Amino acid sequence: MSVIDTVAAAIPGGQWKRPPPVPENWYLLAASHALRPGKVLAASVGETEFVLMRSPLGRLTAFAAHCAHMGCHLRHATVEPLGLRCALHQRLIHADGTFGHPEDGGGRPLTQRTYPLVEHYGAIFVWTGQGAAPDLPLPRLGPGDRYIARPVGIFETRTDWVSLLSNAFDMEHLATVHRRRLIEAAEITRPTVDSFRLSYRSRVIGTRISDRVVKRLSGNQIHASMTSWRGSMMFVESTLGQRRSFFILSMCPRTDGGTEVRSLVGAVLSRPGWLDALRLRLTATMFISFLSDDFQVLDGLRWHPPAAAGSAADRNLQQLALFLSGLRGQA
Ligand code: FES
Ligand SMILES: [Fe+2]
Repeated sequence: MSVIDTVAAAIPGGQWKRPPPVPENWYLLAASHALRPGKVLAASVGETEFVLMRSPLGRLTAFAAHCAHMGCHLRHATVEPLGLRCALHQRLIHADGTFGHPEDGGGRPLTQRTYPLVEHYGAIFVWTGQGAAPDLPLPRLGPGDRYIARPVGIFETRTDWVSLLSNAFDMEHLATVHRRRLIEAAEITRPTVDSFRLSYRSRVIGTRISDRVVKRLSGNQIHASMTSWRGSMMFVESTLGQRRSFFILSMCPRTDGGTEVRSLVGAVLSRPGWLDALRLRLTATMFISFLSDDFQVLDGLRWHPPAAAGSAADRNLQQLALFLSGLRGQA
């Protein structure tokens, strides 16, 4: 049984409703460099399987993984200039999903489902929802700012995406697990109907090497904001001194109730410099060190909203629960 299914707690007013196991969202399927021209790549989100194709000229398409003719998995298909050649009966599937092979007997023409996709941040994202895809969320930039970004890696966990997400908004564990203390009360905003943001300033209270590095770089004042976009995509933006960086965590549900967290790191640059790549690497290392504090304690977590609004931190999480209750997605 999914962890989410076990959530029985009700926030005051009984408004807590289980979020869908797979919210309608953009999901990070692969790093761009993993799919060369003329190749295919299989990936999945929950029970939905995809096959990505990059044409010889570089054009990307995301297909439903199983051939509409008789279900052959398209990871076995061959890329041709006009589309994908299914391995089983050799029908040609064009990038728009139409089939090139003339049908005997004049039956209904076959259509292979395709999905909206976007290639950005050095990664390939696919939209799993119905209807037109909204824009992929972008970092907040100032005039003249630009950014660089790259995929960091994939983290596998047995914990469901709701429990992982809740952790980012849990201000109480900031001190008990991450050795940070709030400088002032955290603030919740709803920048758009699709997003839920918590912003805060904190200082380091730990003494580990990573704590001392962050303390030094930040002047011991870290501005951070966590934004959940349609639930399963999380944006972490932080400012250490003059350094602004961000992480995107695409929380891809697995069929066993766990989560594959596909991640990106980015840095906002007011001026491009030759140290950019190094800075990105250092930022990623610090963030992974921060996340590693969570790995043990989150294993097996079955999150539910706090039953009573005992503290400001608990009230924040009750608001998060309300946001999650309104999400759409696959049941
Ligand atoms: S299963 Fe793909 S062409 Fe028949
Ligand atoms: Fe955490």
